[in-house]
Amino acid sequence: MLSVSLAGAKLQNPTVLASGVLGTTGASLIRVAKEGAGAVTTKSISLEARKGHPTPVITTFDAGMINAVGLSNPGIKDFLPELEAAVKGSPSPVIASIFASTIEEFGELAKEVSQAKPSLIELNISCPNVNDEFGRPFACDAVSSSEVVKAAKKGTAIPLFVKLSPNVANIGAIAQAVEKAGADGITAINTVGPGMQINIEAAMPVLTNKVGGVSGPAIKPVAVRCVYDIYKATKLPIIGTGGVTNARDAIEMVMAGATAVGIGSAVYYGGVEVFSEIPKGMREFMESEGYSKIEKMRGIAHEE
Ligand SMILES: Cc1cc2nc3c(=O)[nH]c(=O)nc-3n(C[C@H](O)[C@H](O)[C@H](O)COP(=O)(O)O)c2cc1C
Repeated sequence: MLSVSLAGAKLQNPTVLASGVLGTTGASLIRVAKEGAGAVTTKSISLEARKGHPTPVITTFDAGMINAVGLSNPGIKDFLPELEAAVKGSPSPVIASIFASTIEEFGELAKEVSQAKPSLIELNISCPNVNDEFGRPFACDAVSSSEVVKAAKKGTAIPLFVKLSPNVANIGAIAQAVEKAGADGITAINTVGPGMQINIEAAMPVLTNKVGGVSGPAIKPVAVRCVYDIYKATKLPIIGTGGVTNARDAIEMVMAGATAVGIGSAVYYGGVEVFSEIPKGMREFMESEGYSKIEKMRGIAHEE
């Protein structure tokens, strides 16, 4: 009833652990998969190790959170054994997220990460720290986005998902560009903003980095609209991500056109149990509303 396929990867249910949350070791990825996640995504990995921003890097507000983790990671060489362990031990497909600061590096990294044989590779071109030569995320420009896809395709035969940013005028046009360049799917969205929170007693921003990406329930309506626009613009499978905390949110994403549903911040609120609770709630909703399988709901909000 809930199984889906993402460019050949088979998921028992549509939930996917989003990149950057718990995906830092092989053991944590396996744990989330065993909790019921349909697929798990690693934290974004770069060629060289990165320290990230000084703490505090996360702050919360009533409808979400703001993070400026800054893509800290051990670099591909040290992460490969973790990824290999995850691929070996995870009952669900593993998605390897990678990022680079040049187009050529994306190609090199795609090749490196393929050694561990993840089911899919996610190209993170949308983090506020992943900039092109003009200091913008690659995902803000259709030409840069498609060049990243072409470079990565040269480095690997593993299907490529491209993670897009909501912070653009026309996300459908970017999606079409990466589809034309040969992408196999889209993950949308990365964080919104950047945003800022001020500690009014201290009269200064809470985060050392001052600003960070906004995630959680506050961004769900933006994420649903982006998924809707991408579904309309392309034929690619979409991992709809942003503000999903319960089964109703996940169903909204599917009705907008998502094949699978990414979950990040909700893990901070509800624990890893969300990966069993959301599929259970989806099943209950489908039974009570008479949907025999998930495909019957996918993109249904587009029908007039
Ligand atoms: C603490 C934190 C770290 C994140 N790190 C990454 C990352 O390394 N790579 C990436 O593509 N997205 C990263 N994200 C973005 C999430 O994968 C996701 O796209 C975004 O948070 C929206 O989903 P959510 O509202 O379910 O969290 C991060 C998000 C958070 C909250």
